[in-house]
Amino acid sequence: MSLVEKGADIKSSNGKLGILMPGLGAVATTFIAGVEAVKRGMGEPIGSLTQLAHIRLGKRTDNRVEKLTDFLPFANLSDFVYGAWDPIPDDAYQSAIKAGVLERALIEQLRPTLEAIRPWTAVFDQKYVKRLEGKHVKKSKSKMDSAEEIKKDILKFKKENNLDRMVMIWCASTEAYQERLPVHDTLEAFRKGLERNDDAITPSMIYAYAAIDCGVPFANGAPNLTVDIPAMIQWAKERNVPICGKDFKSGQTFLKTVIAPALKARMLGLDGWFSTNILGNRDGEVLDDPESFKTKEESKLSVLDHILQPKIYPMLYNGYCHKVRINYYRPRGDNKESWDNIDIKGWLGYTMQLKINFLCRDSILAAPIVLDLVLFLDLAQRAGMRGIQEWLSFYFKSPMSAPEVYPEHDLFIQLMKLKNTLRHLKGEELITHLGIEYYD
Ligand SMILES: NC(=O)c1ccc[n+]([C@@H]2O[C@H](COP(=O)([O-])OP(=O)(O)OC[C@H]3O[C@@H](n4cnc5c(N)ncnc54)[C@H](O)[C@@H]3O)[C@@H](O)[C@H]2O)c1
Repeated sequence: MSLVEKGADIKSSNGKLGILMPGLGAVATTFIAGVEAVKRGMGEPIGSLTQLAHIRLGKRTDNRVEKLTDFLPFANLSDFVYGAWDPIPDDAYQSAIKAGVLERALIEQLRPTLEAIRPWTAVFDQKYVKRLEGKHVKKSKSKMDSAEEIKKDILKFKKENNLDRMVMIWCASTEAYQERLPVHDTLEAFRKGLERNDDAITPSMIYAYAAIDCGVPFANGAPNLTVDIPAMIQWAKERNVPICGKDFKSGQTFLKTVIAPALKARMLGLDGWFSTNILGNRDGEVLDDPESFKTKEESKLSVLDHILQPKIYPMLYNGYCHKVRINYYRPRGDNKESWDNIDIKGWLGYTMQLKINFLCRDSILAAPIVLDLVLFLDLAQRAGMRGIQEWLSFYFKSPMSAPEVYPEHDLFIQLMKLKNTLRHLKGEELITHLGIEYYD
């Protein structure tokens, strides 16, 4: 994250904002239809901080609490224009119906708007998403050519819609597991890799490279490496573009990053945490492939070690068993059900169990995250921020952070960081919760 001065000069939010989404599936269509419903007064933006949250400013005795929408110059929802790529040619109306998240009556009311959003041909290769067959794809000679074609799509979209600014959010499928390799280490190596079609450069990296080239902020909603590689971080800094990721923190991991810090706060030990899910949407089908699941599993597993710090607290946390399972179970559709069995220990090592059964709706939880990321990334760019936006860790299962620091997973530390960043941008005092001045 670049050093932005306290009370930054934030450029005006006037003008149209293009929202580019690789992937026009369940999350993307629930986000688009949701925003359009909110704009028409047909629903409330529940789950979105930018739309609903307030922020305390100054001392508790000052009684200053402002709504975020009044405190910050966010882009207006009526200035949103949507663009997407997908290897499946369904428009947003057909895709929303297939996703089966929203009620048919709501989708029908938004039909003309949704039908007008037709995906462009995708940069797609089944090698990276085994369970999908895509026919609506670009036929470029090299990965560098693919990046150029994505750039052309972006610039055409901007011109045709007279857009002022754009943001790109990866809402596409989870790609097969990819380790970090030398081709990801420098921009030079990465560009050479694009030219020679290096296998370690995945489609999501090609979209991100093109977005950054066009000066478009990028957020990664899936656990793929994508922008979490030195080459892309360097590229984002060079182009003054804010980036963040990875993997929307929407359901089970969201709760994990609330419960684990609570156990640790009270110095309660952990013997094991078993997390299992059933879900039956297309995302679940993609994750049924072991290579895509491995990417997701790494993302879901990383959380506990960082929060519990077993090296500092070996007696409480050394060798705990952590398992994560995702089971594709078609009848459940997007209505995921997750179970967590948590074996904990207290005073004198006496054991206890905690069970969590979350009957959630995957895309209903993810859509407001997309909206917040669009608005915060656009704001960050207008405030002159670039590179990794660690203050947006709040929204991710595997938050990106500077190489010298570990990622912060605790949801409430993440929220404090997010709100303090907003106070800093607006020249307000940071809130530390020290509060001794009230007791002098
Ligand atoms: N709560 C949540 O829903 C949640 C939470 C965390 C992460 N995610 C991630 O968000 C992503 C989207 O989830 P979803 O439920 O909408 O999945 P989905 O399967 O409904 O939609 C993904 C879409 O991406 C398309 N796609 C695949 N490869 C592409 C490519 N190279 N270019 C363009 N499009 C491509 C697919 O055809 C599909 O239409 C997934 O990676 C998922 O793991 C979702």
